[in-house]
Amino acid sequence: MTCEANIYLDHAAGTFVLPEVQEQINKILNDEVVNPSSIHARGRLTAALLDSARQDTAGVIGAKPGEIIFTSGGTEANNLAIFGLAHAQKNKGKHILSCQTEHPSVLASLKQLENEGFRVSYLSTNSHGEIDLDNLAASISDETILISLMWINNETGLIHPIEEIGGIAKDHDIRFHCDAVQALGHIPIQTDKLPVDALTFSGHKIGAPAGIGVLYLRKGIVLQHQSYGGNQENNLRAGTQNVIGAQSFSRAAQYFQDHFEMNKNKFQTQMTGLREKLKRIPGIQFNRGGSLYSDHILNCSFQQVDGEALFIRLDMRKIAVSNGSACSSGSQAPSHVLTSLGMEESLAQASLRISLGINTSESEIEQFCKELNSIINSIKSAL
Ligand SMILES: Cc1ncc(COP(=O)(O)O)c(C=O)c1O
Repeated sequence: MTCEANIYLDHAAGTFVLPEVQEQINKILNDEVVNPSSIHARGRLTAALLDSARQDTAGVIGAKPGEIIFTSGGTEANNLAIFGLAHAQKNKGKHILSCQTEHPSVLASLKQLENEGFRVSYLSTNSHGEIDLDNLAASISDETILISLMWINNETGLIHPIEEIGGIAKDHDIRFHCDAVQALGHIPIQTDKLPVDALTFSGHKIGAPAGIGVLYLRKGIVLQHQSYGGNQENNLRAGTQNVIGAQSFSRAAQYFQDHFEMNKNKFQTQMTGLREKLKRIPGIQFNRGGSLYSDHILNCSFQQVDGEALFIRLDMRKIAVSNGSACSSGSQAPSHVLTSLGMEESLAQASLRISLGINTSESEIEQFCKELNSIINSIKSAL
């Protein structure tokens, strides 16, 4: 089936598989990848592919190979980090700090921990989603065992000050997990210099196929495994590894490292151009404050526009953007991030998340802005 979306600006939900990744997949598929735990020669060859993927991935983020746990994606990595770090420390305390603007895979894990008797404090934010670091420090008690806060918000693009947050966690000897799914490729990540204990990554945000993720876990940090079976991944994640996925992830991560400056400049220029063009649309509001934002995500809302009508028209014109995280879209519910920032439901429903990818072209942006302008005008003139 070929896809009809002519304009694809939903790369934060999932981006295209990179040609170099496709090439590698084809190459190793021909090599007949088997079970890397098998002790025969073919199994050992597969294990060597897994090892090289682990080494390369570790190299990209300044980690040691033993600190890389391959998972099925960002959701599993977030689950593993949150449950694993909480369960491993339950005798020390049962208090966790996080925020309502996190990804559903973090929020739902925390909800389940609350059902198990843990206490979660959701830090308040200003209307852009920024947390107050003094408030973070003041919210820590003797019972606090974990802070889980994301790096780049997947819906608004806001960047949390991870080094400062990690510094506070370290000062209080509290584990710090960060969902870095949207950060890989957009912010240089050097775990050897970063005060984080665990970081989550997802393959399909960086040009690998969906179904592969990584949890970076700092050496020495104790985590309780959450799946039962084999002793794969240092006994922390049972189940035969997805070697093709691991190779895809490492290739994609490597690509983003090798092209970091070039991509950064491109995203910066395109984001500036996008905002300049969108500014011309009457009633548009950018959901951004004064602080740091990633150049690949822009969230905007339209006053007095029916959100459903907006999305139907965008889809009819074969334009792919999002109105929340892909996990929660499909339902008509407004974005939990925007509503938790105090936005009215109707305005949150008339909001778009536009996200750029490495293949996004100037003409795609130009065409999108024209189409969106005409859609907004036609909805408003029908009022
Ligand atoms: C910030 C963030 N965390 C976690 C995830 C989940 O990753 P995956 O789709 O690989 O499960 C996503 C995906 O949208 C995300 O954007």
